[in-house]
Amino acid sequence: MSESFDAEWLALREPFDAAARGVRLAEQLASVLPARPRVLDLGAGTGSLFRWLAPIIGRAQVWTLADADEDLLASAFVACATWGAACGYAATWPGGAHNRALLLHTPHGAWRIEALRVDLADAPESLPLDRADAVVCSALLDLVSAAWLERMAASLRVPLLACLTVDGRDRFAPSHPLDRRVLAGFRRDQSRDKGFGHALGPRAPAALHRIFAEHGHAVLSATTDWRIPRDAVAMLREMVTTHAATAGRQSPAWRGAIDAWARTRLTQTAAGRLGIRIGHRDSLILPTR
Ligand SMILES: C[S@@+](CC[C@H](N)C(=O)[O-])C[C@H]1O[C@@H](n2cnc3c(N)ncnc32)[C@H](O)[C@@H]1O
Repeated sequence: MSESFDAEWLALREPFDAAARGVRLAEQLASVLPARPRVLDLGAGTGSLFRWLAPIIGRAQVWTLADADEDLLASAFVACATWGAACGYAATWPGGAHNRALLLHTPHGAWRIEALRVDLADAPESLPLDRADAVVCSALLDLVSAAWLERMAASLRVPLLACLTVDGRDRFAPSHPLDRRVLAGFRRDQSRDKGFGHALGPRAPAALHRIFAEHGHAVLSATTDWRIPRDAVAMLREMVTTHAATAGRQSPAWRGAIDAWARTRLTQTAAGRLGIRIGHRDSLILPTR
């Protein structure tokens, strides 16, 4: 059973994702891809990574958005067509009324988007990796297990750009005496089984680097933290309430204190006095053989 994410949450986080992402690693990926690259986006959600990375690739390209969630994939077509219209790109639907493919006609060539409904927890070997010039993902690899990464590393023959993997370096400012407990509970929850076995959570970036290096791949990486400023009220509120609810589930005996922590943090948010940093890493894996 895959972990579910709603489109509203993905839309709320998209500008923070875009601001955090590692441009240099993306440019490095673009520089090693062929003329009309085929990109496989694992756990693509509503296509946020396409909207950020396609302009950096900057030429004709074909994307397969792979996800278990049919509703998110349907939203992805709408979101990409809407985004394309805002960029001045005409859209056509080669799949007809079923909207199974979208073509954006850009000055840099046609950008084709297709959807693949798939449970990624099934063996990575069953993914169409051999029909891709690059595999990409964003906010996915902290959900997977070390065993899944091992199998992916053994199967992968093309570059992998893994964006925004959480690494646990989260900070609330100003600090509060209960931050450590809340953040520890949140980190514990990140290691819960998300459908792939025991999730790597904040250990994912280190595991990714070790496992892919052991399989002979070159690994480059950059910190890509969310910096949520004091005026980003909706995102701050979401972070506070999610952290409190998650930490409360992990430590029921502390629920009263955690609720009080959340009230203080929401008051600070309303007063424009809270800022949050959420630690992430982007990693670019380049096969060397
Ligand atoms: C945190 S969201 C990230 C979505 C998107 N990459 C983004 O950055 O906005 C994780 C995505 O992985 C998908 N996902 C989680 N488990 C999955 C699985 N077992 N198979 C396929 N997709 C999965 C979810 O449906 C969701 O779209």
